[in-house]
Formats: sequence, C-alpha cells, structure tokens
Amino acid sequence: MTESSPIQVSEAQIAVHWREEGYVEPAQKFVEQANAKDPAIFERFAEDKFPDCFKEYADLLAWDTPWHTTLDTSNPPFWKWFVGGRLNACYNCVDRHAEANPDKTAIIFVPELESDEHVHISYAELLRQVNEFAAVLRDSLGLKTGDRVTLHMPMVPELPVTMLACARLGVIHSQVFGGFSGTACGHRIADSGSRILITMDGYYRGGQLLDHKAKADEAVLEAVKEGQEVDKVLVWRRHPGQYASQAPMAEGRDVFVDELLAQHRGAVVDPVSMPAEAPLFLMYTSGTTGRPKGCQHSTGGYLAYVTGTSKYYQDIHPDDVYWCMADIGWITGHSYIVYGPLSLGTTTVVYEGVPNYPDGGRPWRIAEKLGVNIFHTSPTSIRMLRKVGPEEPKKYNYHFKHMTTVGEPIEPEVWRWYHSEVGKGEAAIVDTWWQTENGGFLGSTLPALQPMKPGSCGPGVLGVYPVIYDEDGNEVPKGSGKAGNICIRNPWPGIFQTIWGQPDRFVSTYYTKYNKDQDSKDWRDWPYFAGDGAVQAGDGYFRILGRVDDVINVAGHRLGTKEIESAALTVGEVAEAAAVPVIDEIRGRAVEVYVSLKPGFEPSLEMADKVSRAIETEIGKIARPKNVWIVPDMPKTRSGKIMRRVIASISNFADVGDVTTLANPEVVENIRHHVQTEKVARDDVPRELTELEFEEIKKFGAET
Ligand code: PRX
Repeated sequence: MTESSPIQVSEAQIAVHWREEGYVEPAQKFVEQANAKDPAIFERFAEDKFPDCFKEYADLLAWDTPWHTTLDTSNPPFWKWFVGGRLNACYNCVDRHAEANPDKTAIIFVPELESDEHVHISYAELLRQVNEFAAVLRDSLGLKTGDRVTLHMPMVPELPVTMLACARLGVIHSQVFGGFSGTACGHRIADSGSRILITMDGYYRGGQLLDHKAKADEAVLEAVKEGQEVDKVLVWRRHPGQYASQAPMAEGRDVFVDELLAQHRGAVVDPVSMPAEAPLFLMYTSGTTGRPKGCQHSTGGYLAYVTGTSKYYQDIHPDDVYWCMADIGWITGHSYIVYGPLSLGTTTVVYEGVPNYPDGGRPWRIAEKLGVNIFHTSPTSIRMLRKVGPEEPKKYNYHFKHMTTVGEPIEPEVWRWYHSEVGKGEAAIVDTWWQTENGGFLGSTLPALQPMKPGSCGPGVLGVYPVIYDEDGNEVPKGSGKAGNICIRNPWPGIFQTIWGQPDRFVSTYYTKYNKDQDSKDWRDWPYFAGDGAVQAGDGYFRILGRVDDVINVAGHRLGTKEIESAALTVGEVAEAAAVPVIDEIRGRAVEVYVSLKPGFEPSLEMADKVSRAIETEIGKIARPKNVWIVPDMPKTRSGKIMRRVIASISNFADVGDVTTLANPEVVENIRHHVQTEKVARDDVPRELTELEFEEIKKFGAET
C-alpha cells in the first residue's frame, strides 16, 4: 500500500466547476530572444525519443567521462541515468565559467538591511572561495566522498559556497531550511548520519539580527539523543571578526570558519570526478508519517535536468540577471538559485531577508538597482506583496522578461496582478508544478511556444509525460472535467534516487500504487505517484488541486500533519492532537491544531500557548498554528479514529456533513460552537470555500 491516503474513486472524480481561463500570449519581444522558440524542440523530446532525448540536457554539462547508458532500468524503480559518465557538479557550476569568463558576476548578495551594500562575487572569486572552503572540509575535517554533512544556514552567499565545496569533494550536503528549529535540524542530522554541522552565528530577518548559532546547540543535543554524535560545528560569521550569537562556542567542538579559512588561503582542491549516479545532496521533506524523508538527488541526472530546465523554462541566458526569491533551504533554491543558474554561467541573486522589509517596494527596488530581468517566486509572496503594495511595482523602473510562480496553485486573479503589475504586461509567466522529490519542473509551459493560462501550470514539460489515474488505475481522459491522481508515466533525469535509509518507503510511497507487475524491468510499468490531485483540460493543460495525503501546504511548503501532531504531543498534559488546514488569504493554507488534555488538566490560554511553542521548538516558526483549540474530546469514529475532516470543516466554517455515525456525535456541536464563536470574536473567519476547497476539506484525514 502507498504511504499516503489517496482520495477515493467517487471523490477523486469530482466535477470541476472552475471557469476555464483564456490563453495569454507572451510578448513578441520575449519570443524573439527565447532559448526555445523553434517548435522542433517538441519533436526532439517526443515520446518515441525517450530516454535519449535527455542527451540534449546532459550535453549542456562538461563530463570527465562520457556515459554509455542513458537510462538503466535493471532495478526498478531505482532508475540510473547517464551510467558510466563521470563529472563534478562544482566544476560545472564554477570552474568552467571561471576559466571562460572570470570577471563575470556569479552571485549578487543583497543583505536585508537596505543601508548595506550588495556584494558582487565573480566566478573567479567564487572559485577561490569554494577551493579554500573545500580545503577546510577535506584537510581540516577529514571529510571524503560519500560522507554526509548537515548545513543549517540562512540566505547568505556562504551557503552556495558551502554546498559547492561539498560537491567539489563528492561530500553529500544536506541543507536544512534555516527557519527550522534546532530540534528539527537535529532529527535530520541523525537521520543522515552527519558528524559535521555547518551553521552561521546570525542573520537578518525583518530588520533583526537573529541569533542562529543557539539552534546548533539544540540540534547537536537532539542528534545525540538519537544516537548521532556531532564532532564539529563550523560557524560562519555574518560579520567576520564579530560574533552575533549569545551561545558560547563549545570548546573542542565549535570552530569559526574564518579562522579555519585563514589556514587555507590560496588552496587549490581538484574537483573529484564523480560517477553520474553518485548522490549530490539530500533534501528533507514531509510525508504522511512523522519521520521526514531525506530525498537523495544524483549528480549527473539532477544537474543535467536543472540545467536543461533552467535554460528552456527559465529562459536563462548567460547575460541575464536572475533572481529567485525562494530560500536555498528548499528544493527550489537548490535547483533554481544555485545549481541550474550557475551551471548555465549566469548571474544569480541571493537575497537575505523577507520580501516586504522594510516595505512592499523592496523587491522592485532590488530589481531596478541590479537590473534583474528574470524573477521567480511563490503565490504566497505575490499575494503578500499585492496586499502590502499593490501600486508599488509601477514606481520602479525595472523590466522583467520572464517570471515564475511555484509551490502552490495561484488564483487567476492573483496571476493577473503578477502579469500586469509586476510583469508590466511584458513578462512571460511560467507556473511550475513539481516537488522536492522531482529535482526540477514537471508541469509548465515552454514560455515562447505555449501560451499561458492563468491557474493552470500547463502540460508536462519536455520529456515528461503525466497522466491522471482514478483509484483503480484507469486513465481519466483529458477534457473530462474529472479529477484524479496525477502521475508521471516515465522516469526523468531529475527524479530522486531513493529516500535516504528508507528504500522500502521510497518504493511504497511513490511507485506501488499503480505498479501492476513488481517484477517488471520496463519503466512503463512503474508510474510515479505524485500525491497531488489534478484535472486535465482538453488542451492538455493541468490544473493542480493540491495534496491527496495528510500534508498541508503552508506558503508553498509541505508540513506533515503527523509531525505537527507529534510535536503537540511532546507537551505532557496533551492526550490527543489533530492538525488540520484552514484557508488563509495570504499563505494559501494555515495550520490549526486541536488538542484534548489528560484527565485533571484544565484548558487555558497558557496551555494553548505551550502547545504552540512546542510546535515551534520541534519544527520551526513556519509550523506555528494559527490557533490551538483545546477541546474536551475529539470527534471519533466507532473504532476510535479522530475525524479530522469534521474539525477541519469546523475551522473553515464549512458544513460538517453527516456525523451521526460517529462514536460521540454530541461533541461536534460543542466544538463547533466554541471554535466558531471565538473565531467570529477574533475576526478570524476564513473567506467562503470554493467548491474544490470544500472537497479538499471533506477528504482531509481520510485514512485516520
Ligand atoms: O501540492 C503540490 C504543490 O507543492 C507540493 C510540493 O511541495 P514541495 O515538495 O515543498 O516543493 C515545492 C516547490 C517545488 C506539490 O505536491 N505545488 C508545487 N508547485 C505547484 C503546486 N501546486 C500547484 N501549482 C504549482 N505550480
């Protein structure tokens, strides 16, 4: 069985009543200069050319040894791409451009404080920094190919330097989003078996210099609890020579990176030639169970895929100034701030802070000042910037040729503001659908060749063939107006290789559901189950409806309900916990948590706050619930399972449906009255649900 709880046939095949939006054509000026403007590209990537079509992506890289087998399917679904080939990811992202174009700016770092100057790092300078830091890792720490290193770093250029230095040595980096708590970082250190943690003392966020090193101490404690010793903690300093943290440096364990670097000035470390199939990095994400999944990405396939998609879908040319406002701590930042853009030798912007600091005009000032012409962000940021500064973009003289939206469905109305105001009607937009597991885009439009349609991501990208299946594995025909589970029929080079240390979970979560013959060596028998509901219009464009499992997409980031619930259960007084999604105007979804207390404890504001803080400690601010409701009892089935859909309906002011079959139907009305009265008093009533959102809520927590 699959890990997630997919929607049932009747529910999967909900009729979709969204008004179909019309096409929007890209501006002629964009089309003329696009990397992919000749429709012959569709021929080159036609299904009968699979898998050799991906040679076109691999050819964008410099290989030490050419591969002999494009796709090895001998051990499904553990696909191997470009077998026999050897290369180094750091060489591809740095050395080859430093040789050809040393003075070209690789990274522009924009500190959050507007009074601080931005910093240009040329390819030659990046090469120097990466070499020196690789010398630290190899010669001072003794790290070698295949070792794992956990990074817990903010949005500073030292982060790509650290990642690339690891890649230079074949050391597997595992960057944990800087906003995650020390405890969450500790779980990931333990899971990956890292004995080194690399962090920074502090960073700016919302105008404050945050103490970040303190989290490293918590992370090490947590890792040790789980049996993983951490030998060394490397601490980059936000301002070299000063220390931004209150946390003491642990004698013998903690070391300032600038002091180590001083021992390796001018060091040259040869890039290690890695097999294409060697892991490049781990990226943790949430699933249905509490244990996070370390998605293992490959060197050759991954790098080829992000380079190819950056070229054709991001339309990156070497002389562009490209800004992706995501955090490098998520997959979007790995693929489309660091590896893809640098592999193409372009200039990539790294912005430290929040988009609306000090005001909603900040991104547009940055774009104007730096001459950014490609912009990439999430619907949550777009909604937020629109709310705080709808008129801001027109005040600044920047020109985007291309813009991306990623991570969540974008409402057509928000899309139109992005297009007309942010993009000034000039920029082509790509709505890119994909996941941490996928390495790069799965569904989108080729910006010069396929028109945009607000609210739809588009068809499968080049060489990727999605399909919608119902629960029984029947194909849901396009144009039927019916939704189902979106799957990808074929492997692609960016697909992750496995879940670190959990190969069985990898197979059962993503491949078992629609596999009909587990002995088959034919990739056609192993569709990839993405865990999203979707509907395909007659023209082949997909509209992604959201997760079909118990994962809540908050501001474009996946949070597993089980993780949140186990965090709430760390509070001794809590007997039971249930996390549910609530519609949120800016962040798409927010989390609300319901708890019941053990006998003898009384509900109080302090108790609710304690639960909230526990979740923040265990996971991070991103998971902090909008509300914690303490209830006398949870609505339950007769077999004792918590009915999450009932409480999710209450939180969203939706009809709770038939509750007569519950073991305790009488509690529903009590909870509803209490929660909704409070929410009305706090002016916290979500807008009315669309039909699809109502379906989502109704299906929520189907399995539990
Ligand atoms: O539900 C889909 C949603 O985000 C999930 C993947 O989340 P994560 O692994 O954190 O990666 C986010 C960035 C790649 C998907 O299962 N999602 C992602 N992109 C879109 C989207 N939903 C609608 N439209 C998108 N463009």
